[in-house]
Amino acid sequence: MLNFDFYNPTQILFGKGQIAALARQVPPGARVLLVYGGGSIKQNGVYDEVMQALAGHHVSEFAGVEPNPSYETLMGAIDQVKAEKIDFLLAVGGGSVIDGTKFIAAGALLAEDPWTILEKHGANVTAAMPFGAILTLPATGSEMNAASVVTRKSTQEKFAFMNRNVFPKFAILDPSKTFSLPVRQVGNGVVDAFAHVMEQYMTYPVGAKVQDRFAEGLLLTLIEEGPQALAHPDDYDVRANVMWCATLALNGLIGAGVPQDWSTHMIGHELTALYHLDHAQTLAVILPSMLRTRKDAKRAKLLQFAERVWDLKGGDEDTRIEAAIVKMEAFFNQMGVKTRLSDYQLGAKEIDAVLGVLEKHRMVKLGEHRDVTLAVSRKVLEMSL
Ligand code: NZQ
Ligand code: ZN
Repeated sequence: MLNFDFYNPTQILFGKGQIAALARQVPPGARVLLVYGGGSIKQNGVYDEVMQALAGHHVSEFAGVEPNPSYETLMGAIDQVKAEKIDFLLAVGGGSVIDGTKFIAAGALLAEDPWTILEKHGANVTAAMPFGAILTLPATGSEMNAASVVTRKSTQEKFAFMNRNVFPKFAILDPSKTFSLPVRQVGNGVVDAFAHVMEQYMTYPVGAKVQDRFAEGLLLTLIEEGPQALAHPDDYDVRANVMWCATLALNGLIGAGVPQDWSTHMIGHELTALYHLDHAQTLAVILPSMLRTRKDAKRAKLLQFAERVWDLKGGDEDTRIEAAIVKMEAFFNQMGVKTRLSDYQLGAKEIDAVLGVLEKHRMVKLGEHRDVTLAVSRKVLEMSL
């Protein structure tokens, strides 16, 4: 029987030209800190549009939030917020900038060291500064969720936190701002969104027909539009569909009331922390082996996935399941995201190191049945070589 709470307060402004609506969204009189990354927004015109829209506001800037945003960098922004009495944050960029802004928003109001937010996975956050997001890279869903992932460089730790105080107040999604994305980030974004759907869908049936059909619709759209975004980078409609897919993949809707399995993401975060693979690269490597290793527990959903997403019917069940996983891998490769550890120069030696940090971080009972032990993770990693 389905039974769930659903909460999502983020207002979405979607479409070409929506950045101009910023002035109405940011409170009048606010002291705004514009948070951004390495400068892509200066090359594609987003920065100029934002500054124009905020002409009547007091605006300071914090640049240099890196991919896989670091505690070390973000603490600099928290210092600036305090020194300049900032009272509204505006994240302009991809998931890293938005996640970083969530950390700044919560960390600036915390009495203890903000790293404790990550250690406690958000349990000690009781308030956060208000902020909005302007998304330039469809992938993480961070623009409409209350999750954030931050890395501590000095200890090579990458942890996530969740807290309902860090939902963006609003998010502006202008698909034309994604025309400038490098091919690698287009591929990463589609694979990340695909994995988000899978980690909420690929468990066991609980009679959640709406969530299932919705998830399958997102997967089919990504499969259809992802390659189109590579082939026709200036096609607005293609970019718009990819962008909305990525948001809906992780805004809570398809995950409401259903079992979830974040084991691929948890192992993936360790691979990024240790070896600096892009987030989506880790998922493309781990997800296929994870599904193969846990085929029996996921059998009913794997068969549903094979039939409804890949149109595979008839014949022996195991053959159908394997064919679906092979098609998924081919899709990741088609998006330019390689699916083996060896593609990233990682081998058996690194597997021991990954298992070591999984143990240290108590990631020893992952998955929807809490049965992804270290031994299972080892098997998955070995199968991914
Ligand atoms: O820094 P700039 O110069 O802006 O360049 C960025 C960056 O180098 C560039 N970029 C972004 N938009 C662009 C653009 N380049 C040209 N044109 C544009 N329109 O893309 C590069 C990557 O950006 P990043 O924000 O790091 O990518 P992504 O959105 O994939 O975010 C990845 C981070 O999100 C976390 C990941 O772990 C990783 O740290 N995740 C966050 C989640 C969440 N909050 O719910 C869930 C995810 O599973 C994920 O873990
Ligand atoms: Zn992800």
